Amino acid sequence: DSRPEPWGKDVLVEFEDGIAWVKLNRPEKRNAMSVGLAEEMNKVLDALEIDERCGVIVLTGMGEAFSAGMDLKDFFRATDGVSDIERMRAYRSTRAWQWRTLMHYSKPTIAMVNGWCFGGAFTPLICCDLAIASEDAVFGLSEINWGVIPGGVVSKAISTLMNDRKALYYVMTGEQFGGKIAEQLGLVNEAVPADRLRERTVELCKVLLAKNPTVLRQARMAYKYVREMSWEESAEYLTAKADQTTFVDPERGRAKGLSQFLDEKTFQPGHGTYKR
Ligand code: ACO
Repeated sequence: DSRPEPWGKDVLVEFEDGIAWVKLNRPEKRNAMSVGLAEEMNKVLDALEIDERCGVIVLTGMGEAFSAGMDLKDFFRATDGVSDIERMRAYRSTRAWQWRTLMHYSKPTIAMVNGWCFGGAFTPLICCDLAIASEDAVFGLSEINWGVIPGGVVSKAISTLMNDRKALYYVMTGEQFGGKIAEQLGLVNEAVPADRLRERTVELCKVLLAKNPTVLRQARMAYKYVREMSWEESAEYLTAKADQTTFVDPERGRAKGLSQFLDEKTFQPGHGTYKR
């Protein structure tokens, strides 16, 4: 592979003022996710984590689709005829980027749902921290329609954001829904008209980029980990995590914030970020 950077085939990356636009790039296949795409995405996310041009990731799709889910040919059929070990490796590499890496990524992530979003595409959608959809995006848990269950970790992922009645309704019917319904379901933060999608996403990126990145990372991680913990464990962990945050923060944000509010009286945390 002579590409100097690990993207450029099934995934494109563009940098713009701290934003890394990560674009699934199989528009002719509606960005269906193949084994090859997973291998490329794993390398892309790994590279961007230590790339200074990337302060926040926006995951989106080229063309009409966010992603039409797992590739029925180049993921499912392609792994039907191979050995157990090869099949397990393909599943593992998909799980790696769609779930583990995105869920615990060091930099904030936003899914920008520009169009079709089916089946397996719900996993990276949900594992991004935030999501903005176009009102005319079309979502669906279409697995039932072609005779499979929402596998991978789709069923688990939707159960973290949707209530049981609604999740089961879409699991069982495979019915499509639009951006506004996705917003009501809590699958995305907001649905905006298609012509405002990019603008609104950039606006949100700028808010995130203005925060102390260390504290932002620690806050996201803490939230994600306490979801699985008891109250007792959460209290212990969060207290330790808060101390750790102060310890690892090169900006010494906590001290600055305290001093700007209490001593200098130049800022109020209720109204925005301290002067960095
Ligand atoms: N897997 C493999 N190929 C796909 C997929 C997919 N998930 N989605 C689209 N494609 C391919 C089509 O086979 C077609 O290929 P071809 O040009 O070589 O024939 C090409 O992409 C364009 O697709 P069309 O169906 O012609 O596009 P159209 O715009 O009419 O429809 C739509 C788009 C609605 C997304 C349709 O392609 C579709 O229903 N795709 C499957 C969606 C789905 O249910 N995905 C699986 C979810 S389950 C899971 O992920 C586990």
